[in-house]
Amino acid sequence: CGIVGYIGYREAWPIVLKGLKRLEYRGYDSAGIALMNNGGDHIYKKAGKVAVLEEFAETQDKSGSIGMGHTRWATHGVPSDRNSHPHTSNNDKLSIIHNGIIENYATLKEELISRGHEFKSDTDTEVLIHLIEEIQKIEKIDLLEAVRLALHEVNGAYAIVIMDKDNPDRLIAARKGSPMVIGVGQGEYFIASDATPIIEYTKNVIYLKDGEIALITREDLLIKHLDNVVQTPLIQELELKLEMLEKGGFDHFMLKEIYEQPRSIKDCMRGRIYPEEGKVQLGGIKEFAEKLKNIDRIIIVACGTSWHAGLVGEYLIEEYARIPVEVEYASEFRYRNPIITEKDVVIAISQSGETADTMAAIEMAKERGATIFGICNVAGASIPRLTHAGVYTHAGPEIGVASTKAFTAQVTVLTLMAFYMAQQKGTITTSKLIELLTELDHIPEKIQVALESNDLVKEVAEKIKDSTNCLFLGRGSGFPVALEGALKLKEISYIHAEGYPAAEMKHGPIALIDEEMPVVFIATQNSSYEKVISNIQEVKARKGKVIAIVTQGDTEVKKMADYCIEIPDAKEAFLPLLATIPLQLLSYHIAVMRGCNVDQPRNLAKSVTVE
Ligand code: G6P
Repeated sequence: CGIVGYIGYREAWPIVLKGLKRLEYRGYDSAGIALMNNGGDHIYKKAGKVAVLEEFAETQDKSGSIGMGHTRWATHGVPSDRNSHPHTSNNDKLSIIHNGIIENYATLKEELISRGHEFKSDTDTEVLIHLIEEIQKIEKIDLLEAVRLALHEVNGAYAIVIMDKDNPDRLIAARKGSPMVIGVGQGEYFIASDATPIIEYTKNVIYLKDGEIALITREDLLIKHLDNVVQTPLIQELELKLEMLEKGGFDHFMLKEIYEQPRSIKDCMRGRIYPEEGKVQLGGIKEFAEKLKNIDRIIIVACGTSWHAGLVGEYLIEEYARIPVEVEYASEFRYRNPIITEKDVVIAISQSGETADTMAAIEMAKERGATIFGICNVAGASIPRLTHAGVYTHAGPEIGVASTKAFTAQVTVLTLMAFYMAQQKGTITTSKLIELLTELDHIPEKIQVALESNDLVKEVAEKIKDSTNCLFLGRGSGFPVALEGALKLKEISYIHAEGYPAAEMKHGPIALIDEEMPVVFIATQNSSYEKVISNIQEVKARKGKVIAIVTQGDTEVKKMADYCIEIPDAKEAFLPLLATIPLQLLSYHIAVMRGCNVDQPRNLAKSVTVE
């Protein structure tokens, strides 16, 4: 979910509304805004996107220089007007917006009902505001203190903002587990789940820390820890630029982000590779350089697309650094009883740096003594603050919910890490590194060439856009590419798609193949080329439609496949970076042709801060 708050001298509505639009990628099944003016408060909330709320409120009173808004990704209670935030207390004096989950809400709710509270929604959030009201009533204390005590009673994760009709000149905010940034202006403050709604008003921000609670008036800000100790806020300067958050002439953020990849990968490698010397430098993990010589094992934990990047990382690290690697879904890993020792390095990969399952996996591994590295895109997010060391991907803000440039940047960082570890361990020669890095240095240009297949990809998309299923097959590091291709397609076009190791096809998916079934092969000229050709023949023999991603100048696959999309030739290590590009374009065009909301596909959210 996304939250925005404003307190100052301007009209709050336009600021909060625009902020919600910027945060909409975090969840978009319902939205709501509360405003406070001299005459009291107004709350408007609607199921659906922020635009629905905007339209609904067109003719309503939107005055007030204090406001807060929320865009929701439903956890407890279906998306509906009544379950939308803000929620109010029993006496309607307090209102709250909340991101996260209150895990013990059911017991608290029962207790509150027995004390006469009546609930207007099915959410866990409403329970929290009733609890605060109840504590304030019983203890006869001010709201800040009541919030502090109430937060001691709840389990789970939260970022909250609270408004109070009895004190219409202040906002209270708090966080644990869910991110929150406070923008510091002159005579005004901004609150948001991330800095994107704040950037156009001020560059000065405070990242609220876990367990902190803030009392914000127009002139002042007081931050306390939940244990009641007053904190000194650290004001940081944002590096984000406004144009990074806009579409820049593209129809969708996703397309813009696909086209940004030559640049984002270059940014990711800047200052880190020295092709002439055959050297990789990763400042973020430098202090662990010695340790890397003696580690037993690497465990990669991640979710979604980041997990796919992890699988590519496994191939690369094992190939070059000769360290055994396991890749785990963070959500599974955290609930097993995995064997972790002090000689293990855990690499957590996360675009947002906020994914709840990945954070929990890190915490567990840390407790058991592992060294934790992070690979994140969002500077200052929670995961980079939890890890011992890390390497940022520097891909710039990714707004499209389906990850594209963040994935290729993660793969780039993993490639650099593999080479770096190999360099430390001496499993690679300098001359080999010179050769690899020289080529890697030119990958951004090759990605540019791969993007030139856009028109052809669009033609292929036209041919298969009405399919109900699609298979993606690859071998070696082409397998994670296939998984990622399938995930992209299903996420944004709602076509059921599966990625499989090409050789495994005969153990199941082959049963699905008929003339209706498009099968996308990663069939570039690498060590498994001949084997993939056999797999293509198996599909053709069953009348499947073959779309093949091939190396420029290929003639063999062209004889068999229905459609071939070329990518520039490259060493096997770099194939995932190139082969991913046409697959991103393919799912993009199919989704557009099917009339889907490419940037905000149904039911998904970009930053999943609940488990
Ligand atoms: C969500 C997003 C995915 C993303 C995954 C992991 O499901 O929709 O695109 O891959 O979370 O997110 P992270 O920020 O940890 O990479």
